[in-house]
Amino acid sequence: MKDAAPETIYLKDYTPFGYQIESVHLTFRLHPTATRVISKIAFAPNPEATDKRFFLHGEELSLISAKINGEAITPRPVEGGLEADVPEGPFVWEAEVEISPETNTALEGLYMSSGMYCTQCEAEGFRKITYYPDRPDVMATFTVRIEGDQPVMLSNGNPLTSGEGFVEWHDPWPKPSYLFALVAGNLVNHPDRFTTQSGRDVELNIWVRPGDEGKCAFGMQALKDAMAWDEKTYGREYDLDIFNIVAVDDFNMGAMENKGLNVFNSSCVLASKETSTDANFERIEGIIAHEYFHNWTGNRITCRDWFQLCLKEGLTVYRDQMFSGDMRSHAVKRIEEVLQLRARQFREDNGPLAHPVRPESFVEINNFYTATVYEKGAEIIGMLRRLVGDEAYRKGCDLYFERHDGQAVTIEDWLKAFEDVTGRDLAQFKQWYSQAGTPRLKMSEAWNDGTLTLTFAQSTPPTPGQSEKKPQVIPIAVGLIGPNGDEVVPTTVLEMTEAEQSFTFEGLGARPVASVLRDFSAPVILEREMDDDTRAFLLAHDTDPFQKWEMGRMLTKDMLVAMITADVPPAETALDAIKTVLTDESLDPAFRALVLGLPSEDDLAQTIFDAGQTPDPAKIHAARKSLRHALALHVSDVLPTLGRQLETPVFVPDADGSGKRALRHALLALETLLDDGKAARALFARADNMSDQSASLQALLAAGLGQDEIKAFEKQWKNDRLVMDKWFMMQVSFAAPDKAASTALALTQHPDFTIKNPNRFRAVFGALAGNHAGFHAADGKAYQLLANYLIELDKINPQTTARMSGAFETWKRYDADRQGMIRSELERILATPELSRDTTEMVTRILSA
Ligand code: PHE
Ligand code: ZN
Repeated sequence: MKDAAPETIYLKDYTPFGYQIESVHLTFRLHPTATRVISKIAFAPNPEATDKRFFLHGEELSLISAKINGEAITPRPVEGGLEADVPEGPFVWEAEVEISPETNTALEGLYMSSGMYCTQCEAEGFRKITYYPDRPDVMATFTVRIEGDQPVMLSNGNPLTSGEGFVEWHDPWPKPSYLFALVAGNLVNHPDRFTTQSGRDVELNIWVRPGDEGKCAFGMQALKDAMAWDEKTYGREYDLDIFNIVAVDDFNMGAMENKGLNVFNSSCVLASKETSTDANFERIEGIIAHEYFHNWTGNRITCRDWFQLCLKEGLTVYRDQMFSGDMRSHAVKRIEEVLQLRARQFREDNGPLAHPVRPESFVEINNFYTATVYEKGAEIIGMLRRLVGDEAYRKGCDLYFERHDGQAVTIEDWLKAFEDVTGRDLAQFKQWYSQAGTPRLKMSEAWNDGTLTLTFAQSTPPTPGQSEKKPQVIPIAVGLIGPNGDEVVPTTVLEMTEAEQSFTFEGLGARPVASVLRDFSAPVILEREMDDDTRAFLLAHDTDPFQKWEMGRMLTKDMLVAMITADVPPAETALDAIKTVLTDESLDPAFRALVLGLPSEDDLAQTIFDAGQTPDPAKIHAARKSLRHALALHVSDVLPTLGRQLETPVFVPDADGSGKRALRHALLALETLLDDGKAARALFARADNMSDQSASLQALLAAGLGQDEIKAFEKQWKNDRLVMDKWFMMQVSFAAPDKAASTALALTQHPDFTIKNPNRFRAVFGALAGNHAGFHAADGKAYQLLANYLIELDKINPQTTARMSGAFETWKRYDADRQGMIRSELERILATPELSRDTTEMVTRILSA
């Protein structure tokens, strides 16, 4: 049953399940290779359904026995599960199955990680635990009994009873099977408490392997902050007596929002200053909040079907972004979000894997946990809020929560709440969910006697399966800056709905400069003619931090593209403008660090491709390197003073401390190009925190130095898995283009390399795919190596294999030789006997470009 012929599922085919579930009782008798799962489920006919077929999903299960209303039956095995004849009215289904968690390397269903039992059920993993209608629109209350000799045994909801060798849990909130969780193992907890706004006293725990207790305090604080934030910002409070978080080492994703029992990839929860960078701290805070926020957006109100995934993910990402902005800096956070969006979502939207935020079909739903569903999904919420305003946004959310609590709903239901509170028609806005591709927004301006006219034309390039595109609703936030640098018109949101549309600003004294798409008010590509002086002017005077940064970015990007395609030296205007920002002490150091960051090689390759040329990875790499050198020389006189100003004697992973370190580390990377590594070596030697230690090591590696330090780092951290992931990753990320593949290959021979741990696999191969010039080295060795390992990994973990195959999604950008090599690797993968459904779908889509 496992190797079912890939079948395409369509949104338009949705029909409700023929039965409702009153209650679910599960008993687990834990055993590494022979766990018994005994289920007792009370079904009743669903009055809203016409199809009365009684079909239960089930995969990789050994059925021991089945009963209906206490009588033994023999169900009919069918594709992906079983069928049975059932009575007319309500009935009780009972089954006993056997599963083998120890041999479950796919990390979906019940599996073992470092000796501990744990589950991952989203999206369709519960069917590997027992026979069940494993679809999100079937919601039920669960009672779970766990029998075993593990010291700690957890499930969803509140603890019911426990005794020698067993525990029982009861979750009073109806939930779909994908939110089920069980964890059992030798775990220790970091406990705390939280009192909700209505006075409920909640026990909080972060459960970890013995030895990791000291790495929980930061995550716990983030959890409490998130709980308080959701009460204050959305009026949502927690609804159980206990909230558990567990850290596991082997996990396909970042974390999972199982009701009352969140399971985390240990890399997304364990934090200490010795082992975690500032970026790690920030990410951990965001993910803890994200999973917690799912309690309302995802769990209490869930998705009718998996096509609605963005209903919970886009909204929850938007919520965690706002939380992080409130905790740190909105300006810095927004720029980081846009960087991510462009690097991952725009990249996806521009290639063969482009799909709508709400897809209309899929083969394997695990392949749709994408940047488009998550990040573009969040952008849609942000646009909706901008269009209806803050107050109506909150009212719409309140109505949505009130109306749909306890239900499994659709995007239509979400939007209807906002239509009802505002009286607005959101029909055109809804296209953001159905139309794939990144809209291009062309702007031109005219100045006439005190009136500025901005004219916009929108168009979206074709994407797979969608050749015709319609105009979308685009909120364009605009401000005007007068010639003396003062803002003459504050931020105004223009609402574009036509293919082409003009907006006028009247009664202006002198011709102002327009600051357009402030705060990145829509996920579009703005095309606008602007000379370097105007950009430098806005970089100096814009009041909108995102646009200020954007101007610096455009200056450096154009400069780099010119260096690559026209062999010109770096432009002085751009270098001066960056230096001015760098030394402007009125600006947040975190912001200055972002301005100093150069566009990635991948970004440059796409830009060159979009301009109608074929990107040459080696040339791009060389140009970026030479710009870094020019920049280092250009700012060398200010480096020593700046460095001193940015000292952070005590490590605090907050916005202020991390911002100063970000800038100091960016400067150190430049200095390392000039001082032969002296300053970086000194910092490495005295570092008392991972941020300083890894930044200094990376600066050395990027300059072709640091071999002794790499050895010292390994010696110091060989017993810490998460830090060793960094060690593996850094060497590949910073390998010279001609050494990337051989470095990765050598690291796979290291005794601590294992293909079974997704974090370790990603450390090496994610880094290889991310080393643009190395991955696309002309000999094709990196393509070949990645393909070899994807073929290996597919037998073990299809989900991670399929996700990593996205490394090839940009192949059509490159020259015929590279395209030929990639095509043959993709075809080789596809020809692998028994290739998983996950990887088959992804590689097929990539190849169809
Ligand atoms: N729902 C999880 C999240 O967004 C992601 C996830 C999906 C985790 C599938 C595991 C498996 O937080
Ligand atoms: Zn999520």
